Amino acid sequence: MADWPAERLEAVADEQETPVYVIDLDRIRENLGRVQSAFPEADIHYAVKANSGSAVLETFATAGVGAECASAGEFERAVAAGFPTERILYTPVNPPQRDLDTVLEYETEPLAITVGALDTVRRLADRGFTGDVAIRIHPGTGAGHSDSVATGADRKFGIGIDRVEKAVELVTERGMTVVGVHAHAGSGILNPEDVSSHREVVETVAQVVNDLDQDVDFVDVGGGFGVPYRPEGDPLDLAALADSTRDALDSVSGTLRIEPGRYLVADAGLLLTRVNTVKPAGEELLAGVDAGMTDLLRPALYDAYHPVAPVGSMTDREKRSVSVVGPICESTDVLATNRRLPAPERGDLLAIGMTGAYGIEMASQYNSRPRPPVVAFEETTSREIRRREQLEDITAPETDR
Ligand code: LLP
Repeated sequence: MADWPAERLEAVADEQETPVYVIDLDRIRENLGRVQSAFPEADIHYAVKANSGSAVLETFATAGVGAECASAGEFERAVAAGFPTERILYTPVNPPQRDLDTVLEYETEPLAITVGALDTVRRLADRGFTGDVAIRIHPGTGAGHSDSVATGADRKFGIGIDRVEKAVELVTERGMTVVGVHAHAGSGILNPEDVSSHREVVETVAQVVNDLDQDVDFVDVGGGFGVPYRPEGDPLDLAALADSTRDALDSVSGTLRIEPGRYLVADAGLLLTRVNTVKPAGEELLAGVDAGMTDLLRPALYDAYHPVAPVGSMTDREKRSVSVVGPICESTDVLATNRRLPAPERGDLLAIGMTGAYGIEMASQYNSRPRPPVVAFEETTSREIRRREQLEDITAPETDR
């Protein structure tokens, strides 16, 4: 995290108070550039769920890439940010009725609606939809940073290979067109084992496409490209992943679509938080901070590692083993454990790194905690792109007050 400018971070923390997220839009563009160079032939659809802030979405819309939306809310935000509907893949899982109605109300249709169940096809038909559909398959193989995100192995997602033929028949019978086949291996593909599982998934997709009685316009192999969260971690060899994807799809024609989320935004985000309490716990120090699992859920939910660094020089301090804990009344409210850090003191500013993906996006208001603001860095400018919520933002929907 040494490449983040400490003075600018301190200024943000002073102005906005803490906790506060920072997102660097220039880094997002650089990350996108790397994906574009590795996959020059692919049509990239940013997975909106990773970070759906309007400034982030506008950055991608302006760059001309498409979007992948998992819900009507994401779809509406993507349209508002400038994505034409025909650049949006709508990939809902068990879509609620309201979601389907909302998306189908738009005058122009999405590029395709990705269906993961025959019932979704029936529900679309019931609503008079006669547009383009992609079949999401359940490849049976998953990959990712944790079993809980190894989507490809989870039967909740996609249509079993043995039911694909039936799904295609149903789509056609009901007046829609199958334009693509989709699979997503999982999220956080990083190590060689994940890369080979990803390859297996892509091979399964190729097999399914080859077994169809028709051609498809595109093959969508999902997202999932991982980033190292630990400073010593090796980055994903994106070129090798691209080669392996291409190779596995050798026998298949049609546009390659990819849906990266994390890879594009994770390292572009930081969460700034201040130490408010320091407490010895055996050999360790517990640094109580003002950010918690409501602001950054990943450590509590997946036991995910996020780097933590003091902002500003604390070189004169003795290093200690430190755990960083939040203000929520839950034992899982731990942001980092056993880190070698300069002994923290009250008032210190800490940066929690790699929080641009699934950070603010998964924040909640548990414990009646308003969600934090977000500040965007772009060249030398900083601007607030999301204000700090107030208690009123939490209580406003209550109708019996
Ligand atoms: N496409 C589909 C169909 C997906 O389900 C996902 C992620 C993506 C693309 C983007 O995956 P990415 O490139 O960001 O790995 N909250 C978890 C991650 C859940 C991802 C769910 N699906 C986390 O914080 O690790």
